[in-house]
Amino acid sequence: MARRKKIYEGKAKILYEGPEPGTIVQYFKDDATAFNAEKKDVIEGKGVLNNRLSEFFMTGLSQIGVPTHFIRRLNMREQLVRSCEIIPLEVIVRNYAAGSLSKRLGIAEGTQLPRPIVEYCYKDDSLGDPLVTEEHIAAFGWASQQDMDDILSLALRVNDFMSGVMLAVGIRLVDFKIEIGRVYEGDFQRLIVADEISPDSCRLWDIETGQKLDKDVFRRDLGSLTDAYSEVARRLGVLPKSNVTKPTLIN
Ligand code: TMP
Ligand code: ASP
Repeated sequence: MARRKKIYEGKAKILYEGPEPGTIVQYFKDDATAFNAEKKDVIEGKGVLNNRLSEFFMTGLSQIGVPTHFIRRLNMREQLVRSCEIIPLEVIVRNYAAGSLSKRLGIAEGTQLPRPIVEYCYKDDSLGDPLVTEEHIAAFGWASQQDMDDILSLALRVNDFMSGVMLAVGIRLVDFKIEIGRVYEGDFQRLIVADEISPDSCRLWDIETGQKLDKDVFRRDLGSLTDAYSEVARRLGVLPKSNVTKPTLIN
């Protein structure tokens, strides 16, 4: 059997050529990195949890009519996704102040924002993914005005969906990052939610206790990342209740 072709290896995932044209196999690694990979570790079980959680969120989004790259989960660590052209932006939506917004503007972490705030960072590790404005995006041609309208609308729909799903299990969606892909269909192109949605790319706080259930546990050395992600998965019914540190699949 021929070895499949690796297309790209990132910090947390590997992309392989998919079985049919236009598809990609997305493999979730156990590697955790923070601060542009200055801090690194291998967290056993993280890839399995993120594969399941991203499947859960992407499936829910498509059920409410938000297009995503997700096709189906293949196994514990892999999912089949639609191949797309990634727009070189990290689209961040914030409901409460935290992280870089708190630092930049001197707003205490946890302060509710007057409305969801959408920010864009230019995806370039060598520059540390700098914050950019729509002026930069338009001037450098990273996305058109129509794309930006669509991206804003997708980001806010994802925010409403994710906020509701999390609230239902006692978790506050503080902020998150998504990536958007472009797909071509005949003479048309449209934008879809791509990459992953997982506790690696969200801030999730327990509503009662404020306990952090996301990658800040790793960034800030707050305890076991697998325990935090397993707790999110358990509350969402994605993993069996008894399973805390060593996730196994329900089916
Ligand atoms: P920030 O406060 O560090 O700018 O992060 C905002 C959100 O974006 C937070 O939910 C974490 C997520 N994020 C990523 O997914 N990847 C990144 O590289 C960074 C810096 C943040
Ligand atoms: N994903 C980025 C890194 O690997 C930053 C982060 O998530 O904090 O360094």
